[in-house]
Amino acid sequence: MPTAIITGANSGIANAFARLLIEEGWDVHAADVETGAALQSLQCRLHVLDVRSPDSISAFAAQLADKPVDVLLNVAGVMYPYEQDRLDTVSAAALEKVFQVNTFGPLLLTQALLPNLLARAGSVIGIVSSRVGSIGDNSSGGSYSYRASKAAVNSIGKSMAIDLKEKGIVVSLLHPGFVKTNLNPGSEPHPESVEPEEAAGKLWKVMMSKSIEDTGKFWHREGYELPCAKEEYGIYKAAVRPETEDYVANGRIASEDAGYDGAVVRRPRSVSLDVGQRSRILPKVAWTKPALIEEA
Ligand SMILES: NC(=O)c1ccc[n+]([C@@H]2O[C@H](COP(=O)([O-])OP(=O)(O)OC[C@H]3O[C@@H](n4cnc5c(N)ncnc54)[C@H](OP(=O)(O)O)[C@@H]3O)[C@@H](O)[C@H]2O)c1
Repeated sequence: MPTAIITGANSGIANAFARLLIEEGWDVHAADVETGAALQSLQCRLHVLDVRSPDSISAFAAQLADKPVDVLLNVAGVMYPYEQDRLDTVSAAALEKVFQVNTFGPLLLTQALLPNLLARAGSVIGIVSSRVGSIGDNSSGGSYSYRASKAAVNSIGKSMAIDLKEKGIVVSLLHPGFVKTNLNPGSEPHPESVEPEEAAGKLWKVMMSKSIEDTGKFWHREGYELPCAKEEYGIYKAAVRPETEDYVANGRIASEDAGYDGAVVRRPRSVSLDVGQRSRILPKVAWTKPALIEEA
């Protein structure tokens, strides 16, 4: 029976991951800072783990002793409400807490569990990050602690991938999209939010389909790759395939709303383009037929 470790499993996406893997017959070790009702409802091994605390991480690693681990899912995360995470409101305390959970936690827990991961050939490390951590994709500002913590964890995941490639461990950075969870309880759910079960199910499929050749990449739950940091602007030709409404770009695209899969951009609401020297935002409605620049 393969073994999976899941952090933050008292809520949201991690709890849905745990239920999915229990259903699939995995030996699941579900951990959270508190053993709340949602964690206790899981029919698996339960652990108290505060990813902010090196002592708690050491104690957790000691409980797993020599157990080989197939999958480590770093899911635990926190965010402050937008109003408390703006340029004029963000505090040292918020930055410290958010970085400890979202950034240092995945690194220090992975470090502590390396012997367990190395004991299983082809093991997998998943880090649930967020698209807002993509520097190239940032077009709306704000969310200082949260964005920066996710940008930094993307950098950490990339380094881990390089360092562990020879050992055969696949590292995947994962973006769940908007999900109805307790992450930001004061705010209205985004209209495109999905249930945690959908996000976890799709991310699981994406993550488990990746080989060592894909290590260190950042994946949207719908399966396409996201940019971590590089500015991806620089498009000079674009077209729409009328039969599918896929946007096809001769170059690369990045914008808040556009995902891309190779050169095919899927159903963006708006797309940032550099056409010649000029950078502009084209709303989808103005970009279908009138903006057809070249047949795909
Ligand atoms: N929901 C979204 O739309 C969305 C979008 C993009 C990325 N994400 C990412 O997805 C991941 C899961 O978030 P979620 O949406 O499922 O939120 P969630 O429902 O709030 O779940 C996060 C879990 O992490 C736990 N946690 C917080 N601090 C911890 C610590 N120090 N040690 C261990 N566990 C800790 C939380 O416990 P407490 O409740 O006790 O704090 C909670 O159980 C996060 O990394 C988040 O950044 C979510």
